[in-house]
Amino acid sequence: MIRRKNNEQIEGIRKSCSLLSRLLTEIRPLVQPGASLLGLDEFARDFILRHGGRPAFLGYEGYPATLCLSVNEVVIHGIPDERRLAEGDIVGLDSGIDLGGYFSDAAVTWAVGRVGPEAERLMRVTRECLDKAIDAVVPGARIHDISRAVFRQATGAGFGVVRQYCGHGVGLEMHEDPQIPNYVSPGPNPRLLPGMVLAIEPMINAGTGDVRLLDDDWTVVTLDGSLSAHYEHTVLVTETGREVLTSWRF
Ligand code: MF3
Ligand code: CO
Repeated sequence: MIRRKNNEQIEGIRKSCSLLSRLLTEIRPLVQPGASLLGLDEFARDFILRHGGRPAFLGYEGYPATLCLSVNEVVIHGIPDERRLAEGDIVGLDSGIDLGGYFSDAAVTWAVGRVGPEAERLMRVTRECLDKAIDAVVPGARIHDISRAVFRQATGAGFGVVRQYCGHGVGLEMHEDPQIPNYVSPGPNPRLLPGMVLAIEPMINAGTGDVRLLDDDWTVVTLDGSLSAHYEHTVLVTETGREVLTSWRF
């Protein structure tokens, strides 16, 4: 069942999303060579708590942190540890906030210092995947229109699309219906209607789209060891199109 949010709920989700956007804006300058992953996680947790929110990932199915920090060949769900970022890394930073029962979800991939041309191209194309996917959000369109937009942009650039993990509805819980695959799947293809709130999140690999799970049961890495990028926005379907709720300024 896909929940369509009423105006009061949308207002709550919008506030949660703008707090998450502020977190991303404030943490960006800290993402530098030498930064420790645990330090970034602590900053994010303190920021969210200080503003009256609850880190939505912390404790979710036992997840131990506020952020997912996914470095280089890590696709998603990298657990922050003592590791430090190094010049040339790319790091995916994914987080969510529960603000008064309203959930936001967003992710970015950032360069640490100067990175190589392949990393730059992967990040640009994955951002384009998200942009095209967002353009496909109009009332009356369908989930597969989002999926197709991501898939075309990624494969057109010669990159691999991760199939094991999807975007999702969000807002009153962290994960709601519908699932939003990044490829055109045989699964359900519901129509988009005003009031739906979607977390759209392309996960794109420089090599093949195949992934494997590490022994910690969280960390997802590319099977071929290639780089991976991930961007995510929380998006509201409006009467005329869409509103990106987690937009940020850098
Ligand atoms: N941001 C992830 C998603 O989009 C959720 C991370 S799972 C968690 O679904 F356990 F880390 F919270
Ligand atoms: Co998500």
